[in-house]
Amino acid sequence: MEKILWDEGFSVGVQVLDAQHKQIITIINTLLEMNDTQSGSEIVSETLTKMNQYAAEHFNKEEQYMLDYGYPEYPLQKKQHQEFKRKIVDFCMGAMVHKTNVPGEMFTYLKSWWTNHILQEDMKYKKFFNEKGLK
Ligand SMILES: [Fe+2]
Repeated sequence: MEKILWDEGFSVGVQVLDAQHKQIITIINTLLEMNDTQSGSEIVSETLTKMNQYAAEHFNKEEQYMLDYGYPEYPLQKKQHQEFKRKIVDFCMGAMVHKTNVPGEMFTYLKSWWTNHILQEDMKYKKFFNEKGLK
């Protein structure tokens, strides 16, 4: 599966959040590589755990900014973040239980979730935060 290549079009205009998004993309790419090489479920579940920890840290930061600046779409963002975390826990448990054949669906989900979330939902706060002076 093709990796995600970060480009300027992914920039949400806030340095800290861009840096975190890049880091998350790196973790997804690591997982995509595992898919190609049919890695064992143990390494996949370990990486998913790492991803969940990192994503949680990122969501907290993003949500904190939203609360601090009174971003109107905070509830929707929070909901999407929660759904994502729940889904990753499911995939992680699945990888641990089934041991083999990590579903290709998981890789597709990870890749499209982040691409869509960053390009659609997160992009909506770009102008908002910038006008508030957050960069
Ligand atoms: Fe977000």
